[in-house]
Amino acid sequence: MKKLIVCGALLAMCCTPCLLTTALADENKGPADILLQSTIDPAKKPKPSVFPHGAHQSRLECKTCHHSKSEEGKRISYVDGQKIEKCETCHNTKVADMPETLNTFKKAAHALCQDCHKKNKPELAKCSVCHK
Ligand code: HEC
Ligand code: HEC
Ligand code: HEC
Ligand code: HEC
Repeated sequence: MKKLIVCGALLAMCCTPCLLTTALADENKGPADILLQSTIDPAKKPKPSVFPHGAHQSRLECKTCHHSKSEEGKRISYVDGQKIEKCETCHNTKVADMPETLNTFKKAAHALCQDCHKKNKPELAKCSVCHK
């Protein structure tokens, strides 16, 4: 009986951290569907983009899309559990050290999303796939 209690306590000790980390990882996945819309550098005619985030998560790794930035303004590869900020926080015209080719949400998004779509299937790169 004593042995059983000790085993139980040990099990609880071992499993709690695992359960906690799984719960945290699940919490941090973000919404399954997102409507992407620029707010800092909007076009004259807004063009929001649909984005099935959950469907992409089931096929791709987080690091394919998410990354962060060093103090020197360089891209840092994604690490598990990192803080995930909106793309436009870094990709906008007011960020001095962002290259011209990536300094709006539109440019960053097209470089990531449209590029991969083009490589997969030309039909996936049509404007109407994302801009309904
Ligand atoms: C195909 C690209 C892509 C993949 C893969 C991806 N995400 Fe995202 N994720 C995005 C985009 C785009 C947004 C919206 C960012 C914005 O609003 O600027 C987002 C938003 C989020 C947000 C909400 C951020 C906020 O504050 O609005 C979280 C959390 C998140 N993703 C977590 C993850 C995790 C965890 C994974 C891996 C399991 C993952 N994402 C995989 C593209 C991706
Ligand atoms: C914390 C700041 C930050 C956030 C948030 C961020 N980026 Fe970036 N991103 C950078 C930096 C810095 C670079 C490197 C720019 C350079 O070449 O000097 C970069 C590079 C890129 C590139 C060029 C190719 C590559 O991967 O290096 C693309 C495309 C891109 N980001 C898209 C996105 C998208 C889409 C999101 C939102 C899901 C996003 N970024 C979120 C800072 C950020
Ligand atoms: C690394 C590759 C990759 C990246 C990055 C990516 N996608 Fe996709 N996306 C795909 C593939 C492949 C499909 C088609 C999946 C299928 O046919 O089941 C798809 C499907 C879609 C669809 C649904 C098309 C339909 O009607 O069936 C939308 C909308 C979409 N992506 C938007 C985006 C947006 C917006 C981004 C950037 C924030 C993005 N994608 C980034 C590969 C990618
Ligand atoms: C794979 C998805 C995807 C495809 C395909 C795509 N876009 Fe986009 N586009 C986006 C995303 C994501 C944004 C960022 C949201 C934003 O800027 O409001 C964006 C932004 C834009 C903007 C700026 C909108 C604004 O409100 O600031 C314009 C204009 C635009 N796209 C035009 C086009 C045109 C024209 C095509 C076809 C040649 C196209 N896009 C194809 C995803 C896509």
